[in-house]
Amino acid sequence: MGFRKDFVWGAATAAYQIEGAVNEDGRGLSNWDMFCREPGRILNNDTGDFACDHYHRVEEDVRLMAELGLKAYRFSVAWPRIIPDGTGEVNQKGIDFYNKLIDLLLQNNIEPYMTIFHWDLPYALEEKGAWRNPESPYWFERYTEIIAKAFGDRVKNFVTFNEPQCFIGSGCFFGFHAPGRTLSHHEVIPMAHNVMKAHGLATMVLRKYIPDCKVGYVTCGDVSIPVDNSKENIEAAKKAYFDCPVDRWVWSTTWWTDPVIFGKYPDIPELKQYLPKNYEEDLKIICQPLDFLGQNIYNGKLIKATADGGYEHVPYEPGHPTTASNWFVSPEALYWGPKLCTERYKLPTMIAENGTAMTDVVSLDGKVHDPSRIDYLNRYLLNLKKAADDGVDILAYFHWSLMDNLEWSNGYSQRFGLIYIDYVNFKRTPKDSFYWYKKVIETNGENL
Ligand code: BGC
Repeated sequence: MGFRKDFVWGAATAAYQIEGAVNEDGRGLSNWDMFCREPGRILNNDTGDFACDHYHRVEEDVRLMAELGLKAYRFSVAWPRIIPDGTGEVNQKGIDFYNKLIDLLLQNNIEPYMTIFHWDLPYALEEKGAWRNPESPYWFERYTEIIAKAFGDRVKNFVTFNEPQCFIGSGCFFGFHAPGRTLSHHEVIPMAHNVMKAHGLATMVLRKYIPDCKVGYVTCGDVSIPVDNSKENIEAAKKAYFDCPVDRWVWSTTWWTDPVIFGKYPDIPELKQYLPKNYEEDLKIICQPLDFLGQNIYNGKLIKATADGGYEHVPYEPGHPTTASNWFVSPEALYWGPKLCTERYKLPTMIAENGTAMTDVVSLDGKVHDPSRIDYLNRYLLNLKKAADDGVDILAYFHWSLMDNLEWSNGYSQRFGLIYIDYVNFKRTPKDSFYWYKKVIETNGENL
């Protein structure tokens, strides 16, 4: 059976990680601009000031996408480029930039998939309390309305938020991402609630202005993989996957997805006590019909059943393969993630990100040979294909990333791209994996 005929093969990026040009054409300051300026926050004190200089090289980048044979490109819009202070005047030059990108994509038969928020918040909103402010869902609603009106004639596929677990969890609870805060549950749980409310309002706005659009929401899949295919271990993996322990709710799938899809929070009084008073009313806004559920899947953890009907985490053996970011290689995550999530949420899956950092170098022959990335992708995609063979409804796969880029707090030290970036002269060099992925796309995965 394999991948459906209209399977969407894509690659993904995010604005702050690739655009650069942070002070150009009226763009406002973002939370990440400010965070990068705090010494020691980012490895080597790297910043996104220039990033991949995509802002000035958009023609070249779309040419490369066309050479790769991409069917779709997932990118994010920088809110501070569209509304520099977050809520005030619209910056036409920001709109012009994305218009140019969208038009180039369409001329090359590449479908734009637009992420409305991939972590770069206008700094002026940070100063107003960011997602702690009860007005924040309405700031996002207006921003989405501007996007819908400007781009909705040509863009039909939208993701409201990318990985709320990360920008709230890593940014506001653990503090290693912008804005670098370590707030209490008392503050973070209402923030998470406001983000989901913003998602609901944005979904309604998109449907109002673009009746033929498709809308989804992307979380990071904290995938659980059963140690074997026995019934008990599969049940245990499901329990672990959709559990929401009080000390891990920030990374859970259910805290962030159940309200959006089922209109209710997991029943955990220790956490629910911090929700705003009117939270049940808001759930009607939060829970909007969606077209797909996006998951960013890089790895998973092994789970087995315990004698008392619970589950336990089985560590990988010593020496188990890891990536350059020290993440365990666990290809089966791309089987169990979509399978268990579609089973629970009854929505088609989009793999919105998957890929790996590897220690890539330009060799003496001028090429970038990255056999480990090819091996990683081959293994993961075979698992995705197995899920498709089993009848799991999978719409799309977006490789992370199209090009090497600013890996947030890890600066430029980790390379996830199919295209190598020289950060001194911005030369682009397609890696071996670029040509390998091109074949995957051409054959709809038959060469795996
Ligand atoms: C994020 C990307 C990030 C990637 C690799 C995802 O969590 O959406 O922005 O670069 O993972 O860490």
